[in-house]
Amino acid sequence: MIGAAAALMTTTAGRSSGFVHVPSKLLASRRQTQVRHFMAATSSQSAQLYVANISYDTDEQRLRNYFERYGKVADISLPIDRNNTTKNRGFAFLTLEDKETAEAILRDTSSSHLIDGRNVLLSLSHPRGQRNPNRFDDGTADKKRTLYTIDDTVCPSTDEEVLRKIVTKHCKSLDKYLDNSPIAAHTEAAFLEVKRYAEKFFPDGAIPKHSSPGSSDEPGLILDSGVGTGRSSRMLGEQHPKDLIIGVDRSLARLSKNDDATAASEDNDDFFVQVVEGQPNVLLVRAELGSFWRLIIEESWEVKSQYLLYPNPYPKPRRLKSRFYAHPIFPVLLSIGTDIIVRSNWAGYLTEFAASANIVSDYNKAMPITYADKPILSSRLLTDGPQAVVIEKEASALTLFEKKYFECGESIYELRLKRA
Ligand SMILES: C[S@@+](CC[C@H](N)C(=O)[O-])C[C@H]1O[C@@H](n2cnc3c(N)ncnc32)[C@H](O)[C@@H]1O
Repeated sequence: MIGAAAALMTTTAGRSSGFVHVPSKLLASRRQTQVRHFMAATSSQSAQLYVANISYDTDEQRLRNYFERYGKVADISLPIDRNNTTKNRGFAFLTLEDKETAEAILRDTSSSHLIDGRNVLLSLSHPRGQRNPNRFDDGTADKKRTLYTIDDTVCPSTDEEVLRKIVTKHCKSLDKYLDNSPIAAHTEAAFLEVKRYAEKFFPDGAIPKHSSPGSSDEPGLILDSGVGTGRSSRMLGEQHPKDLIIGVDRSLARLSKNDDATAASEDNDDFFVQVVEGQPNVLLVRAELGSFWRLIIEESWEVKSQYLLYPNPYPKPRRLKSRFYAHPIFPVLLSIGTDIIVRSNWAGYLTEFAASANIVSDYNKAMPITYADKPILSSRLLTDGPQAVVIEKEASALTLFEKKYFECGESIYELRLKRA
């Protein structure tokens, strides 16, 4: 099937591939938009902000001292960890006496809001289950303007100790989990096709391996995990023309969304590997990520970057273990990529992802985590973020989810993990 270039390019024509990070002028303009919507939509005098990514050691007084430079703080609600009453749960609600103070805080782009070494994230707070009127210019019932925001009012953050126990247990019992989880047949077949293609793609058939890693400007591998319809892989393919981009998703329906030739079915066992038309450096692959990551480890492939863009967040506490960072496969995921880039509209997801990565790194330092008798995490992963990402224009949105969030003014965040 490989080489059967199909009509997968339809959504990509004429786009620009750039995006920028904050802090920048763009963050200023985004905050101005937030402020404008907020001022138009809020009638009462007081205003509430949601503050995320707070250091667990920050106390109420510290928050008050910081925010009172902008105006009067009427109330601070800083939930405390049930098991460790000296620590907070990483988020707070800040009630300001007047809207102007909230406006001044959101408008302040002179620096990031750094409190106790953490760049805290601010957004307008809204009651649970309600639309956030602050995000919209007018009161019209536009269906695009659904509320997508996930914050602690939608799903409370996970208790730090609970997360530590779960992730530590997964590190300890990784071998057992893998022994009981066979590699999916269609993933194995797809991986073999990818390998054959990669051997043709890289000069002299030399797929980058841990034993002989290429330099950063030599052609390398980029993995786009959970690619959906493939938009991000196409864009990454344009941004990194020398690298081989592998976009992986388990959903045939999503992967072949733009492909007239493929009758997609979720429950057949067919494998699917496709070269994107006009982009020989981009493959779209139907595979189970858990299995695909394992096969990459077995082959010792060196992956430059792994992208996880808008992974399914499971925003219910009882689904915690379905999220990648609390799933048994997490140490395996973390072993793929010199850089790991995760984006979500849920800052709390990324904060917990980073916390879990630190737990795995700590565990690995004391007791190296192995797969097939090989240590899989050579060094600690340094976390950077989460921080807000600003999209300049619709065409710059890396994925369809990102495009949707851009269209309705939803905030999006990025976490980067880098090998020390
Ligand atoms: C929320 S969608 C995001 C898709 C795309 N990245 C975007 O932003 O438009 C998450 C994607 O991850 C895929 N996915 C989740 N878990 C997976 C797994 N274990 N193996 C393969 N794909 C998975 C889903 O099929 C889905 O397409």
